[in-house]
Amino acid sequence: MSSPPDFPALNNTPIFSALSAFGKRIYLPKGIFYWAGKAKNAAINATIGDAKGAELNQYLDVQSTKSITFFVKNISELLGSKIDASTIASYAPIQGLAELRSKWKEWILEKTGLKAVANIQSLLSTPVVVAGVTNAIYFVVKLFISEGETVLIADKYWENYDTIIGLNIGGNVDVFNTFDPKTRHFDVAAMSKKVDEIGKKQGKVVLLLNFPNNPTGYAPSPAEMAKITDAIVKSADKLKKPVIVLVDDAYEGYVYDKNAEKKSLFAYLVDKHPMVIPVKLDGASKELLFYGGRVGFITFGFSSKWGVDLKKLDEDIVDKLSGAIRGTNSNGSHISQMIVLKMMENMAKSIENRQKVIDVLTDRFNVFVKAAANLNKPEKCIYFDPYNGGFFAFLNLPKDIPADKLATKLLDEQKLGVIPVQTKAGVNGIRIAYCSMPVADIGPALDKIAALLA
Ligand SMILES: Cc1ncc(COP(=O)(O)O)c(C=O)c1O
Repeated sequence: MSSPPDFPALNNTPIFSALSAFGKRIYLPKGIFYWAGKAKNAAINATIGDAKGAELNQYLDVQSTKSITFFVKNISELLGSKIDASTIASYAPIQGLAELRSKWKEWILEKTGLKAVANIQSLLSTPVVVAGVTNAIYFVVKLFISEGETVLIADKYWENYDTIIGLNIGGNVDVFNTFDPKTRHFDVAAMSKKVDEIGKKQGKVVLLLNFPNNPTGYAPSPAEMAKITDAIVKSADKLKKPVIVLVDDAYEGYVYDKNAEKKSLFAYLVDKHPMVIPVKLDGASKELLFYGGRVGFITFGFSSKWGVDLKKLDEDIVDKLSGAIRGTNSNGSHISQMIVLKMMENMAKSIENRQKVIDVLTDRFNVFVKAAANLNKPEKCIYFDPYNGGFFAFLNLPKDIPADKLATKLLDEQKLGVIPVQTKAGVNGIRIAYCSMPVADIGPALDKIAALLA
């Protein structure tokens, strides 16, 4: 195994001091892919372990005389005419298809409005392709969290965070109140308090935020985004320690209320403070409605104040992530990446087609909001959290109605399936996925819930 690079740029940024034991250790050894890349134009290339050559081109209906990775002929029929089997049968690069990575970066700049910022290209790492947003969260948490270290999350969170952070990585999950009980807005003060607390105990803070949120469906307004940003910057400035903000953008683009911010928090955080390090985690699963494609991306935001060669820093980050990928998934699905790339070659059309789905979801959202209003009984501690985006709404329940009991009763007696959410921190409620209910089912579904809560 080749020895690790010395990461000259990364070592001189606060990212380095925030790395976990794994994060410090990992790199991509100069192995088979390295030598295969070097030998690409060699007269004879006997490097990589895929069967290839030009002998079968005619039989495989490949219109070239070039050496191709052999494939089983009927794959072509399954793919149709738009994707050439000879281009997707081979392994994809460890860090993902170069063209897809570059297109996704352009897409990030466009959808976040960052495009207008001077020198922005160098302040964003080149997105690295992973197997969905789940995989992105896993790799980045692993890069920063050693066993026993803490990730801070809002108390209403996607259940899989526990599986990733706790069960897989051995980290702790600490939480703050998602909503201020009085204002019903995102509890920025609770977040700051916990960031400061953790920052005093740990050499860094790893904060994981998700908007539009699962399970509540909450998306902050631009003013709230600005407050969250200010609070993070203030804490990082005071602590003088890196604050890594993992921005889980799984539901980016799904906002149904014109007062809510469509742009990712990532856009607010990039280059705001040298100790604030935003990492954008997004993907095709929801954003391009290609859940099964397993195409996600990891993109770091850099600080212009670090005084390092940002191109080298990008290479260092990609090297670390590539080591993590090579040792687990080896590389991502070539065909899935190709499909996403083809969708992105005409992104305007893909987004226009996606709008049809957003329109349906907006209708469902509007019907849900109206029908759900009578379920709110704050005096009985039964109430929805604020929701204006994403795929869900969250109904809080009093302690004497355990969410799992209600969910079981709803299923057994009313034939309605919902997800109960109960946490050690005291969250008790049900997540209702209105994204999967036709408009006609929404009223009856909420009536069923009301009947059991009466
Ligand atoms: C908040 C959140 N993050 C990440 C994911 C995972 O996305 P992916 O399917 O791309 O792994 C989900 C999916 O349910 C989610 O709700």
